[in-house]
Amino acid sequence: MFGPTRYIAWMTRFFGKAPFDLATSGMPRATWTDLGAPEPALDDLAAYGRLTEAIASYNDCSAAEVVPALGTSNAIFLAYAAMLEPGDEIVVEHPGYEPLTRAAQGLGAVVRTFERRESETFRVVPERVAAAITPRTRAIVVTHHHNPTGAVLDDATIRELAAIAEARGAYVLVDEVYAPLEDLPESGVFRRSARKLASNVIAVGSLTKCYGLGMHRLGWVLGPPEIVERAGAALIATCGHLPLAHAARGAVALANIGKLAARSRALIGDKRSVVASWAETLPRARWSAPPSGIFGLLTLDGAGDLLPRIESWIEGHGILVSPATFFGVPNGLRLSWATLPRPRLEEALSKLAPLLLAK
Ligand SMILES: Cc1ncc(COP(=O)(O)O)c(C=O)c1O
Repeated sequence: MFGPTRYIAWMTRFFGKAPFDLATSGMPRATWTDLGAPEPALDDLAAYGRLTEAIASYNDCSAAEVVPALGTSNAIFLAYAAMLEPGDEIVVEHPGYEPLTRAAQGLGAVVRTFERRESETFRVVPERVAAAITPRTRAIVVTHHHNPTGAVLDDATIRELAAIAEARGAYVLVDEVYAPLEDLPESGVFRRSARKLASNVIAVGSLTKCYGLGMHRLGWVLGPPEIVERAGAALIATCGHLPLAHAARGAVALANIGKLAARSRALIGDKRSVVASWAETLPRARWSAPPSGIFGLLTLDGAGDLLPRIESWIEGHGILVSPATFFGVPNGLRLSWATLPRPRLEEALSKLAPLLLAK
């Protein structure tokens, strides 16, 4: 059975209600006009093939490796459904994005975790992952950028994880929904998909976070043949086939995605360094200092659970941040600079500072 996702339930309560949004972890919504392409015909069956080809071209892989999905959320579900039987285990990073755990549990899997530690700049330490693996492990699961800290994953580490998994006949699942933010691909091709690093790597992604197209649910699984086959079967079992309009719009969006990459780059500007400089002025807080991306993690030593304070700041000051308690870090908050223009961001940060200065 699928348990409730506490984080999503909390966000639904507060999303859109605070004038200063430092919580949304994706680019502001893009319109079809931003894409600079005409709306496609919505009744052409050839769109299904075009979408698969467009996903492959964007990710610089072959169409045989692609299963289109409804956003990364659905891609995670399909990837899990393709590899997990009840009682199987996965090893997921902690702190982490709750749905990666809930979806696996919903399919009857057992979730073990490995730590990404602040003292190690939240990088993935392969030896610690290896220590968490058992004969029942079917997948090692990581995010890039790491949600909630924004830490990045390098190719060498992913290859090491793939070798650890390979020795057990398991997979590495890389949720790369944020990965294009490392260097937004204005060429329209994302060349760094983890799928290309080893045969047992499965990558999931979408046009949600980096490009502002989340409402269109344009996602995918990239995997080896047996995963493509089983994820495709899971898709058929759960919805028959994806909507034709999803395929038609997705193919056009992907063909023009370079324009949205440029838009995102312009909207992000130098806001990451604005937040990093501000974080330095907070004597008790520690900043995860992500090297790219649109969010990072602030922690306060000895603060206890920040959730009540964060809720009072929404009510009292109109500032919305993500309580990191939902990611397994009660004394932290995730702060995003994706949506506010720079002057509003600076105003929000100055209103937020007292929350992090108070004892
Ligand atoms: C790590 C991670 N994966 C997946 C998703 C969901 O992506 P999508 O909106 O494309 O379903 C999110 C959303 O916050 C996320 O943080």
